[in-house]
Amino acid sequence: MILITGINSFIGKNLEEKLNKSKIKFKGIDKNIKRNTKNKINIDIRDKKIGKLFNKNTILIHLAALSTNNQCKDSPDLAFDINVNGTLNLINLANKKKIKKFIFASTEWVYGNYTKKNNQDESLFIDIEKLDSLYAITKAISEKNLNNKNHSFKKIILRFGIIYGNRKNNLSALESLFIKCKKEDSISVGSLKTSRRFIHVEDVVSGIIKSIYSNKDGIFNLAGENDITLKRIIESSTKILNTKVKINEIDSKNPSIRKPSNKKIKRVMNWRPAVSLVEGLNSLKTFLKY
Ligand SMILES: NC(=O)c1ccc[n+]([C@@H]2O[C@H](COP(=O)([O-])OP(=O)(O)OC[C@H]3O[C@@H](n4cnc5c(N)ncnc54)[C@H](O)[C@@H]3O)[C@@H](O)[C@H]2O)c1
Repeated sequence: MILITGINSFIGKNLEEKLNKSKIKFKGIDKNIKRNTKNKINIDIRDKKIGKLFNKNTILIHLAALSTNNQCKDSPDLAFDINVNGTLNLINLANKKKIKKFIFASTEWVYGNYTKKNNQDESLFIDIEKLDSLYAITKAISEKNLNNKNHSFKKIILRFGIIYGNRKNNLSALESLFIKCKKEDSISVGSLKTSRRFIHVEDVVSGIIKSIYSNKDGIFNLAGENDITLKRIIESSTKILNTKVKINEIDSKNPSIRKPSNKKIKRVMNWRPAVSLVEGLNSLKTFLKY
């Protein structure tokens, strides 16, 4: 049985929709469920009673977290309690109940800020002491806790790239810029060369589903195919929206760049991102009714 923590998250809701469409059975938990149903249960990941939902056939997809750096900065104690202790509670219960597989939602943030390394692949050593983002630190510690000893279950750590999709809050730079291109006459950015390998949430969901059925263990970057610069986002957005904006580039010489390589997951799980930037932006345009 597939058990998803954080079913009410942005990714969780998209995963739920896809699993329902594919008639794949699952249960979801979240601390933000108003009324319990057979398949959706309000429980906190720090609660030991969650172990009642685990058995030897459980494939756990652990999404629940304080999921942004700002949330973690605003509530550092809670960030550690949920992201580190909550995850550790699940790891301990997973061992006790000898579950089948643990899929953990990690992030490219564990690679740290700008690094000169061209492509960040999964073999890079993650030095937690060098990380300055509390969010990244909580995820890196949980990765180590998962990898730390010979757990009885298979584990897959997915380091998601920066995700975008159809949503109205918790926006990534990509959705924020798209909205600004619609609503504002001028936009201020650090460096137009700043780039990420943005990935559409539908591609994240297809990567999670590949992980459910894969018999492999390990760490996998789940990131988009191409470096997408802020310049490209603005150009594509204004084209799609048929708008014009004045760009105020504040710090052109200091772009922030992260390039997590998706080669491993493509090779090992035969996963491919399917949503292009233009398709993703057009879908966002329809969603926002622009
Ligand atoms: N969105 C991204 O760009 C991105 C990128 C990399 C990694 N991730 C990771 O993917 C996962 C999902 O991200 P998202 O943006 O969809 O999340 P989100 O912020 O939309 O939702 C987080 C969910 O976790 C639940 N939750 C929080 N604490 C809980 C607890 N103690 N017990 C039970 N439920 C709890 C919340 O109620 C919420 O529904 C997170 O682990 C996040 O760190 C997200």
